[in-house]
Amino acid sequence: MAPERLFAGATDRNREPILAVLKAVLPPSGTVLEIASGTGQHAVHFAPALAPRFWQPSEPDEGLRGSIAAWSAAQPSEWLRPPLALDVLARPWPVETRPCDPPLSAIVNINMIHISPWAACRALMRAAADLLPAGGALFLYGPYRVNGAWRSPNDPAFDQSLKQRDPSWGVRDLEAVVAEAAANGLVLERTVDMPAGNLSVVCRHP
Ligand SMILES: C[S@@+](CC[C@H](N)C(=O)[O-])C[C@H]1O[C@@H](n2cnc3c(N)ncnc32)[C@H](O)[C@@H]1O
Repeated sequence: MAPERLFAGATDRNREPILAVLKAVLPPSGTVLEIASGTGQHAVHFAPALAPRFWQPSEPDEGLRGSIAAWSAAQPSEWLRPPLALDVLARPWPVETRPCDPPLSAIVNINMIHISPWAACRALMRAAADLLPAGGALFLYGPYRVNGAWRSPNDPAFDQSLKQRDPSWGVRDLEAVVAEAAANGLVLERTVDMPAGNLSVVCRHP
């Protein structure tokens, strides 16, 4: 049976606000590597909208890669690559063994670092610093605590529910994420307030 297109409501709701930020901060060309593409809804929406950049989705979960392929088949785009099997914790990443064409210019990671151990954020930063060229962008999106304060009334309960599922998960402190980026030589360029208290976080490879 052909894989199904899976659907996540939040992904559908946040795609336009995220796209507006991506248009403003991504380098104008090259390949954008999406880490943790999930269902593939973002990939099929962003790829044609961000041309002439190429969009390279990736996802460690085989079932979700099937969903990405199904969305890609239903909404094909010449700017969209087939999904890579990529777990940020496993090195080398497939783009290290077979570099992107055109070369990588940005890495995008939406709603992952709170739903994975802190080691995943550290691995993402280390690889981004290794793989991005000068001027390359690392874009993160998700919920954050800032200066110890929650940004949405729903976030404390959300954080608890994440930790109940896995004690190594949880809403991250923006300062810790920025410090991890800086430790790898990536510079915080800006944060952008997003709906529902989320943040876009844009780091740049100097
Ligand atoms: C909440 S979903 C977000 C999916 C998608 N980015 C979106 O916004 O719809 C979290 C994603 O993180 C991925 N993920 C978790 N741990 C990961 C890891 N170690 N490496 C890469 N992706 C990971 C999951 O497979 C899942 O696709």
